[in-house]
Amino acid sequence: MRTRVITVDAASPDPTLVAEAAAVLRGGGLVAFPTETVYGLGAHALDARAVERIFEAKGRPASDPLIVHVADSGDLDQLVRVVPAAARDLARRFWPGPLTLVLPKQSRVPAAVTAGLDTVAVRLPSHPVARALLLAAGVPIAAPSANLFSRPSPTSAAHVLEDLDGRIDVVVDGGSTTVGVESTVLDLTSDPPAVLRPGGITLEALRAAIPAVVLRIATAEASGAQVSPGRLPLHYAPRTPLWLFEGDPSLAIAALHRAAAERAGRGERVAVLVSDEQAARFDGADVIIGTLGAWADQAVAAARLFALLRDLDAASPSVILAIVPPAHGLGLAVADRLRRAAGGHIVTLE
Ligand code: TXA
Ligand code: MG
Repeated sequence: MRTRVITVDAASPDPTLVAEAAAVLRGGGLVAFPTETVYGLGAHALDARAVERIFEAKGRPASDPLIVHVADSGDLDQLVRVVPAAARDLARRFWPGPLTLVLPKQSRVPAAVTAGLDTVAVRLPSHPVARALLLAAGVPIAAPSANLFSRPSPTSAAHVLEDLDGRIDVVVDGGSTTVGVESTVLDLTSDPPAVLRPGGITLEALRAAIPAVVLRIATAEASGAQVSPGRLPLHYAPRTPLWLFEGDPSLAIAALHRAAAERAGRGERVAVLVSDEQAARFDGADVIIGTLGAWADQAVAAARLFALLRDLDAASPSVILAIVPPAHGLGLAVADRLRRAAGGHIVTLE
């Protein structure tokens, strides 16, 4: 299969080009497209065969359910059995935007989308290209992140092609995504509602709407240290082994610095992933430095994270030593992705 690249303007995509991509989707094809978070790999959500092709292209296990993207919050009524008042309120506050709501599904949503679950995850993205594509397609679009299973999520069309060139029909190239980490997944079928994946809408923002909301991250507890290494699935992972340093911030960066010096001293090619402030410690050191911006603005860390993991990989170090950002705001989502990328290689300093 040849993958066609359709390049559009991110802010006002050419309707003719969008219509071509939409026609591929309606016909059961696979189209990768930018959302405000990461690139998604889209298929007609009510076409079970099209949805199955997503899993084949990504090498994703069928047990991992997909998010259904809609053009309008009114579309919830076609996918969800009961739309609770809380869902309408959250949609009014946060849609279009990086919040995914898990709700009881209608039978017309294929089991392939929801991995056989009785619930469906729905979101209304804010990216102009995603919105134009959804409107033109006129059908809900199931879309996981457009990466090969277990690779870092793609924040540019180049990342999508790195993983999926020749495996999908179309990539709509609308430049780099802005948020950089995936949407927040909120389960509204549990009481109190639970965040299953921290993401682009912060926990603080959600708590302003639903004070009782809890964090229930399936695979990595808030403290990675308590989790036995094997239980953390390798996810969002660079090919290079990644070790994550967390706990007391000044002890953690000192330990990371020491580990980098020891490894470099043994002749290893070492990469570090730290904040702008922390990068100064490595002046003159023989290490590859990736910076996540200043901790004061965690939007920068979120926007850069996945591209940096790919860039550091491309430099072929023997190891990536990374530091966890402060656990508030978007830092919660960045920390979550780093823990998954570490796959249990976590050093906690107290
Ligand atoms: O920002 C995003 O959410 C991106 C863009 C493309 O929209 N999409 C994305 O999809 O990250 P994916 O497939 O990589 O992640 C979907 C997440 C998974 O953690 C999955 O387990 C969860 O949503 N999910 C989907 N359906 C669910 C359900 N019915 N119940 C619980 N979790 C669900
Ligand atoms: Mg993903």
